[in-house]
This record gives sequence, C-alpha cells and structure tokens, in this order.
Amino acid sequence: MPLARAALRWSLGHALPRTVLRRAAKQGDLHGRMFVATQSGDWAALAPVMDELRAHAPFYRGRFASVTVDHAAVRAVLSNPDVGARFPRVDSGHLARLLAWAMEDAPLGPLTPPSLLVTEPPDHTRYRKLVSRVFSPRAVEKLHGRTQQIATELLDQIDPRSPVDLVATYCSLLPVTVIAEILGVPDRDREKVLRLGAAAAPSLDLGLSWTTFRHVESALGEFDEWLAQHLDGLRRQPGDDLLSQLLAAQEDGVSLTDVELRSTAGLVLAAGFETTVNLLGNGIALLASRPEQRRLLAERDDLWPNAVDEVLRVDPPVLLTGRMTTADTEVAGAPMRRGSVILALLAGANRDPGVFPEPDTFDITRHNAREHLSFSAGRHFCLGAALARMEGEVGLRTLFERYPEPRVESGAVRRSTRILRGYERLPVTLSP
Ligand code: HEM
Repeated sequence: MPLARAALRWSLGHALPRTVLRRAAKQGDLHGRMFVATQSGDWAALAPVMDELRAHAPFYRGRFASVTVDHAAVRAVLSNPDVGARFPRVDSGHLARLLAWAMEDAPLGPLTPPSLLVTEPPDHTRYRKLVSRVFSPRAVEKLHGRTQQIATELLDQIDPRSPVDLVATYCSLLPVTVIAEILGVPDRDREKVLRLGAAAAPSLDLGLSWTTFRHVESALGEFDEWLAQHLDGLRRQPGDDLLSQLLAAQEDGVSLTDVELRSTAGLVLAAGFETTVNLLGNGIALLASRPEQRRLLAERDDLWPNAVDEVLRVDPPVLLTGRMTTADTEVAGAPMRRGSVILALLAGANRDPGVFPEPDTFDITRHNAREHLSFSAGRHFCLGAALARMEGEVGLRTLFERYPEPRVESGAVRRSTRILRGYERLPVTLSP
C-alpha cells in the first residue's frame, strides 16, 4: 500500500503537471515554456522566456497560472492579504478522499503543512514569532565573529595550488556549520544533515521523475526520523540552542504540537544551508570572472554588503514562489478570480529594467541592488535574510581577501533543481 500511495502522489504532483506543461509549451504557452527552460538551471535558457513574459506585464495569463516578472507586481502578489501561500485542499467528494488517502503516509517536507512556507495567519504568525527572535539583525551580528572563524578554518584546510571543488569544501560547509550551531546539531550529525538536505532539495520542484521523487521522499523521511531523535535527545539534555528553547516553550504549553515543532525546526535547518550554499557559489563564480569588480572591492571594502546584494539580484538562489488567491481580488491593477494560481518570478523581478537600469550587468556599485526580491516580500519574507547576508559577506570576503585571483576551471556544473539555483560543482584553483 505505501507504494500505491506514493505512486498516486507522484502521478498527481509530478507526472500529470509535467505532461500538461510540456504539452502547453509545445503550443506556445509561456508558463509551459518556462517550465521546460528551467530544466537545465542555466540562465541562458531562461532569459528569452523571461523577456517574452515581460512583454505581458504585469501578468502573463497562462492556461494554468498567471505569471509575473514585473517588480511591482511580484511585490504586490507577495503582500496582498487575499493571496496566500497555502494551496487550499479539495475537501469533499471522491477526489478529496483519494488525495487524503495518498497523503496519509507522505513525509513532512518544506511544502507540506504545517511548514511555515505554506501556512498563513494565525498559525503562521504563531510559528514565526517563536523563531524570528533568533534571526534578528542584532542576534545575527553576534554570530559574525564565529562565522569568520569557521570561514578561516575551512580555507586553512584547502590546498590552494590544485583545483578544488569549492561547493563541497567551502560553500556548503560554512552555512551548515553556522546553522547547526544555532540549532544545537552535534558535529557528528552534520554530514548526514548535509547529505539529506541535498537529496531533499528537489522537493520544491514540480515534475520530478519517479526515481528522483522516491529519493526525495526517502531523504525527507530519514531527515524527519533523525530530527525526532535529535529532539528527544535535547528533551533529555537541553542546551542553549534554538531547538532547546522551542522545546521549553512547548513544555510550557504555549505553542507547538509535535508535528509543528518538527516541521518548523526542519525548515529552519534546511533553509539555513540549502540556499546560502548557492549565494556563496554564485558569488564566487560571478566575481572570479570579473577582475574589475574584484579590484574595486579590494580598494573599497565598504562595498562588500552591496556586492552580496548584487550577487543575490543577478543570480538568485530561489527562482520563484507560487501563490493562490483566496478571494476575488485585484493585484497590481489586474483582476484575479478566487482560486487563481500565480507564479511570482523573483529572478524576473530582479531584472526589471524599470527598476534596475541595464539589468543584465553585474555592478557591485549599483545604488539600489538591495531592492532585489530574492528573499521574497510580505509576510513570508525570508526569516534568515540577515543571517544569509552576513554569511554571504563573510564567506566571499574571506575567500577573496586571501585569494584575490581565483580561477574557475572547466567542469563547473549547475544544480539540476528548478527552484533552487546554484552550482553542484565549482572547481577552482585559488592560487593559479
Ligand atoms: C541566500 C540565502 C537565502 C535565500 C535566497 C532565501 C530565500 C527565501 C525565500 C525566497 C523565502 C520565501 C519563499 C516564499 O515567499 O514563498 C524564504 C523563506 C524562508 N527562509 Fe530563506 N533564504 C535564504 C537563507 C535562509 C537562511 C539562512 C535561513 C535560516 C534561518 C532561512 C530561513 C527561511 C525560513 C524559515 C523561511 C520561511 C518564512 C515564512 O514562510 O514565513 N533562509 N527564504
């Protein structure tokens, strides 16, 4: 039976959408063409589709969704109270029963309730309040020194004379070490957490193959099992980490059920490294190929924070986010019926020429780079934005100050995930 349930989940969530979107692409539907173009993780494939979508601003009305790449419209979608991140469940009839049956043993994932990403107020407010304090700019500032120390230690272990994959040795290890310390994950478990996080990364994507889908579900299941054990350990022996604090709040009866706790903790942990790894890798690749921008940074180190935002603008770690209207409404002047699906392309908003002149140019002195929407906007605005910016700055700056002229070797490979965008492998010689 578990296999039959999984097969149904895959058929409805992946096989069916993949077939209809591919067919729509052949008939010229831009949403379908965008789906096909995201297969490679390569910007060059996506750019022409983005340009065509832009010609339909504020919204391209596709067969299955309205799609926007317009900066103001993306912001309006994400801030509208009648546009939600929760996709309402079918709650009556045969289909509802079938879906409920299929979901009975589905593993917890980033897009499965009660994940923060797909929850709306009042529950969303309750979960977020419990964790947000730990990630405030003031709290993050206190982690600066330790992050610097981790970055230096990681670089100490790399031989700069031969090519090294910086994703495996640096970009992935820096954020996982920081978030693991915040959450009280012991050293011995970090490799496992990293492996499971990478295996589960396609869980944000639509249209997975059966094999990938099975791997993803198995990784999510193993991750949840590990998390349950880890939380049990912290219940017996609490530390001064975020998870121990959440457990204490739970015991006071204020707050989270068991499943809410595992979902929130799992999301914060995974989001804490699966995205920042891309910020670091994308930043290294962009800066390594632009000596004039590196020279500017060497002369004016006050430009580092802006450089990090410009990396986030030009090569954002998250491509898009989806929403559904919960009432008849108007968004950016466009009428939307209740139940309309909207895709907000963060990467498209970041290249809106009305906001960012010469949007394809990577310019670390761009005065409004910080207006990118790579961390989303509105009530789901990234909880870890301050942490990610700090890790991005420390990670890139430490590397480029020690090795001012790194060379990216052949063999760099982009990740195959559609939503999370970055490098799978980035071979670099640090001291050519
Ligand atoms: C460069 C790195 C990062 C990027 C680009 C990024 C991007 C995003 C985006 C786009 C969203 C909102 C998705 C939506 O609106 O549907 C989001 C939400 C979230 N992020 Fe990040 N993120 C990054 C790093 C982090 C880190 C380090 C953490 C660790 C705390 C984190 C934790 C979260 C959480 C918990 C949410 C859910 C917030 C909510 O739904 O209320 N992120 N992130």
